[in-house]
Amino acid sequence: WEQRGLHHLSLSKDSMAAAQEDGALGNAAAAAPQRAPGELEERSDAPSRVWGAQPGLLFQGEKQSCHPLVSITGQDSSSLSPTTKNLFFPQSLSWALGYNSSLAVHSIEDGMLLYVCAHTVVVHDVLGSRQHHLQGHANAISCLCVSEDRRWVATADQGPDPLVIIWDAFSGIPVRTIFDSHAGSGVCAIAISRDAKCLVTISAGMVQRVCMWRWTYPDESPVCYVELSPEFGFQDFVIFNPQNPYEFVSNSKTQVIFYLWGDAGLQYSTPPLTKQTFGSTVGHFTQSAFHFNATQVLTGTSAGKVVVWDVERKRGLAKEPQGRLRGMKATKLVPMQEESLTVLLVLESCIVTGDVRGQVKFYNGHLQLLACSDHSGTGPIQSISFSKTPSDPPGASSTSSHPFAARNFILSTSDATVLRVATDGTDFEKVMKEAKKAVTAIACHPQQSWLAMGSHCGLLKVWDYKQLQLLVSRIFSSAGVQCLSYDPAGSFLATGLTDGSVHVLDAISLLSCCEVFRFSRGPITHVQFSHDSEYLATADEKYAVTVYKRVLQNERRCWEHLAGLHSHYKPIRSILFGIQLDGSEPRLLSLGEDRQLIEYDLSSSSKDQLVVLHRHRVEQAAVPLCLAWYPHFSTESFILTANSCYKMKLYNATTKMCRKTLLGPTYGSPLEKMQILPKSAAEPQKRYLAYITKDKVGLQILPVDGNPHKSSAFICHPDGASDLAISYDGRYIFTAGGSDRTVLKWEVNLNALEAAASLGGEDLVPFYRLLDGGQDGEFFRELEDYFYYVQLRSHGIDMLESRQVSMYIPLEEIPSVMRAMGFYPSEEEIEEMINEVKFSEFVDTGEQVTKINLRDFIKLYINHRPAFGLSMKTIRQAFQVLGYENENGDKVIDRGDLLSLLQCRGDQPLAGNKHCVQISQDIRL
Ligand SMILES: *[C@@H]1O[C@H](CO)[C@@H](O)[C@H](O)[C@H]1NC(C)=O
Ligand SMILES: *[C@@H]1O[C@H](CO)[C@@H](O)[C@H](O)[C@H]1NC(C)=O
Ligand SMILES: *[C@@H]1O[C@H](CO)[C@@H](O)[C@H](O)[C@H]1NC(C)=O
Repeated sequence: WEQRGLHHLSLSKDSMAAAQEDGALGNAAAAAPQRAPGELEERSDAPSRVWGAQPGLLFQGEKQSCHPLVSITGQDSSSLSPTTKNLFFPQSLSWALGYNSSLAVHSIEDGMLLYVCAHTVVVHDVLGSRQHHLQGHANAISCLCVSEDRRWVATADQGPDPLVIIWDAFSGIPVRTIFDSHAGSGVCAIAISRDAKCLVTISAGMVQRVCMWRWTYPDESPVCYVELSPEFGFQDFVIFNPQNPYEFVSNSKTQVIFYLWGDAGLQYSTPPLTKQTFGSTVGHFTQSAFHFNATQVLTGTSAGKVVVWDVERKRGLAKEPQGRLRGMKATKLVPMQEESLTVLLVLESCIVTGDVRGQVKFYNGHLQLLACSDHSGTGPIQSISFSKTPSDPPGASSTSSHPFAARNFILSTSDATVLRVATDGTDFEKVMKEAKKAVTAIACHPQQSWLAMGSHCGLLKVWDYKQLQLLVSRIFSSAGVQCLSYDPAGSFLATGLTDGSVHVLDAISLLSCCEVFRFSRGPITHVQFSHDSEYLATADEKYAVTVYKRVLQNERRCWEHLAGLHSHYKPIRSILFGIQLDGSEPRLLSLGEDRQLIEYDLSSSSKDQLVVLHRHRVEQAAVPLCLAWYPHFSTESFILTANSCYKMKLYNATTKMCRKTLLGPTYGSPLEKMQILPKSAAEPQKRYLAYITKDKVGLQILPVDGNPHKSSAFICHPDGASDLAISYDGRYIFTAGGSDRTVLKWEVNLNALEAAASLGGEDLVPFYRLLDGGQDGEFFRELEDYFYYVQLRSHGIDMLESRQVSMYIPLEEIPSVMRAMGFYPSEEEIEEMINEVKFSEFVDTGEQVTKINLRDFIKLYINHRPAFGLSMKTIRQAFQVLGYENENGDKVIDRGDLLSLLQCRGDQPLAGNKHCVQISQDIRL
């Protein structure tokens, strides 16, 4: 809840459990420490939605109307539908583009796919253009499996606090969550038995642990488990014997392992198989499957062969005793084809293989070829999923001889293409064609519901996010797309590539409309048009800013290279066009990790001469990370930055003087990118900011004042979000996941954000809560004491007349009270703090403020003090750098050295002491 910014909602354990069962709370449920209820556990007050679930239920909720906000804390959360959750969260996932093509795509019903998109399972109704999202994992999902009847879906992840979740695919409800199952490593392979009652998981650690779960029982530990020696290789595939839930098999690239579990625990055997066994190359094992005749196991290999494993017949022993692991041995190595086999599965009385060339082949029980379906060009096959029921009952006679012939199947390739192959195996259609490399760039059209997205694989797509359809796409074969931007009129799309080239494309056809610019020596990281499209600017990885100017070429609008400059010496974080205050001329700023905020003088720049107007160092210790124009709330115009220490700062747009420092959102990582939401027609005075942190997407109510309840965040891409875009109407936020190859569409619900903020308390209440002990605590009383003590001091301690106790202290006393409170600001921070108060009313009254009251002081303190105090890690680091090792091997600093360091190094007091500089040279660091 902290993470959602919903600190005020205290859920009871029951309602949390109920809500989790209903899947309505997304990640919140997973983040809560409470355990999930056992499967199908009936609650007395409401009939279970799992119990009554039918196929197709998932999308029925869409028609349900709103629920009042109160129901989240009340008893009846069982009727929360997928869309009603939008009421509670400021941002909720509404569509997922792309998927993890290293994992399987399952066919739940004909036309209904189930796949993994980062940390979310997507149930995608292709025909109806609908998606349902199973949210609960906080880390990217690493494996999934689906029961034979497609009702139960089990997923697991890797990362901090990994989870195993079992979902009811009919209702979308997470019926069971297993916590702490493989702490530290997470799960790399999972399988569910045919009767769906048993689950096997294999951990991803060095020593892999294989656990057997009876997930329908409320036990928190596995029924049995075994740890595997690393010598067997990394076991990343596992499957149950469909005819016997007590038997399963797993394989790594080099070893197949056979298991049997029961009262005697978990036994396993590791029969050898080498090149010598059959005198021919085996290749790497890919997938295994149980033969339908129950005795054999088959394993496909990268050499295009199938290993047949069979029960080792011991002389004089007709049958193995019950409960004993059968001795298995490789009995045959059957060469099937040249190409690597990537998929091997058994379907009724048929064996199916998929390979790196996109071929699907069907064999009978003796591995004789029955049929082949060729999809070369689509890439290596990653998974094959047959529809649950034969699609064509009338052709009953053919069904018996060729069972595959009667079932449609879904084919997914590791190149992120999904095909739907119809009954006779010749007729197929492309269902999805997604990015096969990182997706780093997204941009929204300024007037249409179009989203442009670009991937490192060179794929550039424009998608209509209201009609939910692909409009146009293009592939750059030479390099990947790194950044995108539409011009303000929406006619052009500027595209920066990883090879340093810049293409200006027609926004509709995506055809190039200017020559290709190659002025950058590194990948283009940012591209932007000025408000009047007069200029186009780019930033690249070689720390250069390049400006292009508009020209007319043969009656056609185009841009031409003006000038470039290596203006930064560390990565450029932002480039930003604005408008001059006294006119309509564009202005250009750039911000780098070198802490330089640079403004360029566009009107004085000429061919090959980019003139810098103003360079300003914006931070002392923190690194500035992003930049935006602050909306006008007063007559003064501001630039907003966010830095690596969770602070947001307002700078006078003209003088670049730091005018305000504010506590920004603190959700585990600082703001990486931010954008102001467009004004809404209904409430133009209310403004909001959307942002991404390393892994979350969030919203912040403006003006920023340090109140933590005014922002919210939600995990969007656990492995790192790379870009952010906002629809022209402000109703949707899009996030690109970079390496997870997905783009997520989030619906914005500002009412929920406002509700959360007002529940957080009015006025100073939220700030008091940020003080240690709150308003009634020791800390607050101490602060009051200091406050009045400072008044005494400034009046003169020895004064004998009766004193006038006022509400204010003079500005000069701010630093000493801050220090008394345990916050030791640097000289620069003190200057910023005092200036902040001094000029707080300057624009309105023309006068400087000279004193501060307790209320404003508390806000100042909260906003300026370090967001997370001083950590032991920082102190250790300081000793590492400044200290030396004594005879006991501890890092120490001499007292004298420490004192002179404190006095002479670090930031200089305004009257710098030259003598100290001399001394400091004698100190060995
Ligand atoms: C897909 O999942 C696998 C297994 O966890 C992971 O290694 C891989 O990075 C994921 N790929 C993407 C594109 O998210
Ligand atoms: C299983 O099938 C294979 C090939 O079809 C056959 O050789 C073997 O004898 C069968 N085993 C049993 C027990 O039917
Ligand atoms: C900020 O800039 C404006 C001009 O935009 C100027 O009039 C004002 O005095 C500046 N404020 C401060 C506090 O420097």
